[in-house]
Amino acid sequence: MKRVVLGVAGASGAAIAMRIGELLSSLPDVELHLVVSEAGKRTIAHELGPDALGNLAKIARHIYSANDIGATIASGSFKTAGMIVAPCSMRSLAAIATGLSDTLLTRAADVHLKERRKLILIARETPLHLGHLRNMVTVTEMGATIMPPVPAFYRRPETIADIVDHIAARAIDQLDLGQSPLAVEWDGNA
Ligand SMILES: Cc1cc2nc3c(=O)[nH]c(=O)nc-3n(C[C@H](O)[C@H](O)[C@H](O)COP(=O)(O)O)c2cc1C
Repeated sequence: MKRVVLGVAGASGAAIAMRIGELLSSLPDVELHLVVSEAGKRTIAHELGPDALGNLAKIARHIYSANDIGATIASGSFKTAGMIVAPCSMRSLAAIATGLSDTLLTRAADVHLKERRKLILIARETPLHLGHLRNMVTVTEMGATIMPPVPAFYRRPETIADIVDHIAARAIDQLDLGQSPLAVEWDGNA
């Protein structure tokens, strides 16, 4: 089994977290480990409704409290195929960039960096100030991948679900799990 950690921070874009969770849990040999920040719980409820967090938790192999700093995913000895933070707030980005490890989410991200594993950050804020941009540069230099949740208009999305599907699938693609939950390859401008 390949373990994948999904961290959900309190930025806008809870639907992306939900879709990534659904797609990962649909892959036969992937085990989903979920950690949601306190602010993430709030944005999930605000954007998707009161039942959404419970629904996300149901499809995860394990859900951890963001305060549980002694959980398995806080240790490099717990092997994973990578971690996605979706969406990633500017607060969590700053904590990751400085190695703060103040919550289980930012600690798990720090572990992925120190173990040289994949760390994908769906960093969401707009507009960005220089501090945000510098933090993005810092985590990129440390090995993380910044993927802002930007729509691919060339795919002519018709619904928000189309946009969310594309962002979620592209993030999962970054983990190189050997299987892609949605066909996202561009076959040229035919
Ligand atoms: C409805 C809502 C939307 C938010 N959207 C964003 C956002 O898009 N980006 C961001 O960086 N922070 C956003 N915030 C603020 C974060 O939730 C806040 O900075 C929080 O401290 C982040 O904590 P965390 O990184 O532990 O999740 C939002 C807050 C709320 C309530």
